[in-house]
Amino acid sequence: MNKKSFFAISLIFVVLAGFSFQCGKKKKIEESIETGKNIYEANCSPCHGINGEGDGPGAAALNPKPRNYKKDGFKYGSSIEEVKRTISEGIEGTAMPTWAEVLTDDQITHVAEYVKSLAASSAE
Ligand code: HEC
Repeated sequence: MNKKSFFAISLIFVVLAGFSFQCGKKKKIEESIETGKNIYEANCSPCHGINGEGDGPGAAALNPKPRNYKKDGFKYGSSIEEVKRTISEGIEGTAMPTWAEVLTDDQITHVAEYVKSLAASSAE
């Protein structure tokens, strides 16, 4: 094998490896969102609404009300770390409870991914 074809083959190999790594990462986030959806529907939708629009059956009586993730964005930060922190610590002075003792760290990660996916999907 000459130098040139060795280089070409290595390059293909690196590109393929990078591609499958990206796919793996994407798949992992998709699985996380799927798990998070179940956690969300069981624990969060009564206040936040099934679509994250802040219109769950429990929301009417709340002040402040949960926001519409699709329209209003995140007051307490929208990075995955910030959303996780909001979920685990709750928000003092509002109905938003602390979840750190109810959900595991992994579950909080999943539900945070799901909340972010709700915010990313535009309102109909
Ligand atoms: C008892 C009602 C209630 C439940 C249950 C509840 N929340 Fe909340 N949540 C609220 C309220 C009210 C706010 C708004 C507080 C504010 O705007 O200051 C809020 C705010 C938030 C925020 C911050 C949004 C921002 O602006 O940064 C996130 C994220 C969040 N909730 C996620 C969750 C998740 C995930 C669950 C389920 C594990 C959950 N909440 C369950 C009432 C609730």
